[in-house]
Amino acid sequence: MNILGIESSCDECAAAVVEDGTWVLSNVVATQIPFHAIYKGVVPEIASRKHTEWIYGVVEEALLQAGLEPAGLDGVAVTAHPGLLGSLLVGLSFAKAFAWARNIPLIAVDHMLAHLYASQLSESKAAPVVPAEYPFLGLLVSGGHSIICRVDDFDGVTVLGTTIDDAVGEAFDKVSNHYGFGYPGGAAIDKLAQTGDPLAFNFPLPKLYKGEHRYDLSYSGLKTAVINQLEQFRRKPASEVRPGDIAASFQKTAVDILLRSLFRAVEDTGLRTIVGGGGVAANSYLRRLLGEGQGLRCIFPPLKLCGDNGAMIAGLGYRYLIRGERSPLTVRASARVKAFKRSYP
Ligand code: KG4
Ligand code: ZN
Repeated sequence: MNILGIESSCDECAAAVVEDGTWVLSNVVATQIPFHAIYKGVVPEIASRKHTEWIYGVVEEALLQAGLEPAGLDGVAVTAHPGLLGSLLVGLSFAKAFAWARNIPLIAVDHMLAHLYASQLSESKAAPVVPAEYPFLGLLVSGGHSIICRVDDFDGVTVLGTTIDDAVGEAFDKVSNHYGFGYPGGAAIDKLAQTGDPLAFNFPLPKLYKGEHRYDLSYSGLKTAVINQLEQFRRKPASEVRPGDIAASFQKTAVDILLRSLFRAVEDTGLRTIVGGGGVAANSYLRRLLGEGQGLRCIFPPLKLCGDNGAMIAGLGYRYLIRGERSPLTVRASARVKAFKRSYP
């Protein structure tokens, strides 16, 4: 079964074709980053306009690369939430029109569930992935969200912890901005950190371990401490400044914050499989640390599928479709996370 996946929740205009919820036949991501970078963040109106201009060409390219005509598709999956409303509406309206015109099912899905699903996709039939068995712990880390959750099924997620202020990716982006690396900056900080000493600075860890905050996260204190340190560096002669040290120490602390809460959840739930997803799941330090055994099985999507893409949408859509579900053509977009329930320790 071939599903077309459409993703337009933020600043990537993306479409992909996935066979049987597993095999990525094509994966086209047109990034709008250059149009937003000068504003140091995503400008919602520009994002919606670019999606409107690009969506047809992106979908056409995804079909071309998959070697399929529209008649070869069995369904259209699309992100309906969460995200920028204007951007979501472009993809959703396009998908509705496509499904209606071809008389094939429409499946509206949640973007965060799709990030979790990304690790089940295989980019080549020669290298099939072995998906994690449910239940497992999910680590969803992106520019807009930081979520530690228990995952019982592709659509059965219970949030254990989340950020009480900034998302982890947002902290990377703000620190990057202070370095003058522009937006988004996670990958640039990751690269710079490889040149520095992670123990050079002792940045503060949030004191969130009691009561209902046991698995929660916070990044605003770290972000402020790092920005203050960068300001101090600005006043020093260039020979005394080692920018890589701040980046490496920031990255270490940002990942430590995630892992402290995650390991508490491992201990409390007894679940020893962890599945990552979202743009920050591409972080090399996080992947290395979680890959270092500790008796855990840690599964990350391939780097190309960590950020926003249509393949994760198509894969997740397939799961709903084979369960006999589809969305009405009246389905609505929503800016907020829908499919998650919160559980307190
Ligand atoms: O999932 P995503 O593509 O979009 C959202 O749904 O937000 O995540 C984008 C975020 C940005 O904040 C970006 O800076 C961050 O992921 N990111 C990284 C890395 N690559 C992307 N953060 C840390 N290390 C990276 N290597
Ligand atoms: Zn995302």
